[in-house]
Amino acid sequence: MATYLVTGGNRGIGAATVKAIRALNPDARILIASRTAPELSHNVEWIEADLATQVGLSAVKEHLPDCDGLINNAGIMIGKGAFDITEQERDMTRAINQIAVVELSLALIKAAAGKPVRIVNNSSIAAHLGHPDIWYGMTKAAVLNFTKSVAKSFGPQGVVCNCVAAGPVETDMLNKIPDGRQQALKSAAILGRFAKPSDVADVMAWLAIDSPDYVNGVCIDINNGTYMR
Ligand SMILES: NC(=O)c1ccc[n+]([C@@H]2O[C@H](COP(=O)([O-])OP(=O)(O)OC[C@H]3O[C@@H](n4cnc5c(N)ncnc54)[C@H](OP(=O)(O)O)[C@@H]3O)[C@@H](O)[C@H]2O)c1
Repeated sequence: MATYLVTGGNRGIGAATVKAIRALNPDARILIASRTAPELSHNVEWIEADLATQVGLSAVKEHLPDCDGLINNAGIMIGKGAFDITEQERDMTRAINQIAVVELSLALIKAAAGKPVRIVNNSSIAAHLGHPDIWYGMTKAAVLNFTKSVAKSFGPQGVVCNCVAAGPVETDMLNKIPDGRQQALKSAAILGRFAKPSDVADVMAWLAIDSPDYVNGVCIDINNGTYMR
């Protein structure tokens, strides 16, 4: 039975990813790592973990030897400008968005010891365009770069590592974006709407389970034409 671990799988894009994995693989065991409890269903287990702490990371790492796929989805955006963000908020953003992604991925790769495993990282369009919350943008760019490094360094031993970079998605995180900016971002999309969590989740689940092995080290943009490159 394949096992997938989704960080932040309790709500937002992560919860939609759990559903999308279930749709692609009805028998999969799915582990959710988050601070607040998810809704549990058949073959879904919760690892209570604050990914900003070493204790939380250790709790998740214990389960990685069982895993075939790791979906690094959890993330935070403080949503303050460069001069307003506190040191604590900066450190928290880096810990969850960047350090946890690297630590968990490397722990999975080490535990896999040559067994094929997949890693899917949730970056952001902010990685390409920058962001008013500069630490958010920088951590998301780091995740994109890390994705490429992992694919290059560990691809030969069976690691497939890709990421997605979405524009605004209808989750709690969207509330951090002021209304005026939300309208501007929405009207730039071809469909004139934000992404639904499933628009991103379906791609992440595909990358975790079904995409060809040859797709490695890529970033799939999910922004409905707001940034074509
Ligand atoms: N929404 C967007 O517009 C958008 C666009 C591009 C990329 N993304 C990325 O998508 C990912 C998911 O975001 P979302 O939109 O679904 O946001 P969300 O609804 O706010 O969910 C954030 C998730 O991260 C988890 N998380 C936050 N801090 C954590 C911590 N210290 N330890 C463990 N888990 C923690 C949360 O779990 P708890 O409930 O336990 O806090 C929650 O499951 C993020 O990486 C985000 O950067 C979002």
